Amino acid sequence: MRFQDQGVIITGAGSGIGRETAIEFAQEGAVVACTDIDSDTAGRTVEEIEKRGGRAHAFTLDTTDPKAVKTVFAAAAERMSRMDVLINSAGVREIEPVVDLPYEEWCRVINVNLTGVFLCSQAFVRKLTSEGTSGSIVNLASTLGLTAAPNRPAYTASKHAVVGLTKEMGLELGESGIRVNAVGPGVTRTALTERYFQNPDMADTVKSIHAMNRWGEAREIARVILFLASEDASFMTGVTVPIDGGWLAGKKM
Ligand SMILES: NC(=O)c1ccc[n+]([C@@H]2O[C@H](COP(=O)([O-])OP(=O)(O)OC[C@H]3O[C@@H](n4cnc5c(N)ncnc54)[C@H](O)[C@@H]3O)[C@@H](O)[C@H]2O)c1
Repeated sequence: MRFQDQGVIITGAGSGIGRETAIEFAQEGAVVACTDIDSDTAGRTVEEIEKRGGRAHAFTLDTTDPKAVKTVFAAAAERMSRMDVLINSAGVREIEPVVDLPYEEWCRVINVNLTGVFLCSQAFVRKLTSEGTSGSIVNLASTLGLTAAPNRPAYTASKHAVVGLTKEMGLELGESGIRVNAVGPGVTRTALTERYFQNPDMADTVKSIHAMNRWGEAREIARVILFLASEDASFMTGVTVPIDGGWLAGKKM
């Protein structure tokens, strides 16, 4: 049990990668604070963890609300009695070319995907540094934090920024014992991407961008997140690890 009795807080834990990561942490002995803007889904993740014999608490949290972040992080720390790991998984995406993207949509995506990561990381780091404890943050960047694809300007910009923020925090916090890393998943089947799979041609295109000619599953992302958060990655900080089935290896001929 790599995380026995550790306190893990996860944003966007009601669905997809955040949900699967919450379940995996609980299976490894952690007490998990499952936060999501959608309180029903956060509660359902907690139910699933408890059904499997794990420990978790649900919190409603909009990661773009600075006041709420402060309140929920304090409440979660109290419920878990310690805080060791933060997973920033809450995320949204647009599908719109840059020429048509409304300003409001640009702001929505940047706020959730970038500002939310900043606010939650700051709350977590303030708590740990005030107590002089060590810990680990894992951010959900994306393959689109390392390369681009058309029609996702705010998403691609926000994920590149998360890669940068991960480097920045890794550098600043290196000596404090708080490691900060990110993962860059390829297309992973979750609510975020489900519409791709409703159209067989689109599903084939999605498969073909990965060298392995398939999409990823949330559990495959969760396992690498747990590795980065664990002592097995004790000399890693400031990096973004692609989990992309070979997408970034190059283009097929
Ligand atoms: N699925 C993929 O193919 C893929 C690929 C690369 C990166 N990612 C990233 O992984 C993360 C998780 O994505 P997913 O595929 O699990 O998506 P998902 O839609 O299944 O889950 C995202 C969760 O975030 C929550 N959320 C949205 N806005 C929020 C806010 N303001 N505050 C708190 N919670 C909020 C949603 O309610 C949802 O439960 C995202 O950051 C996403 O960009 C996903």
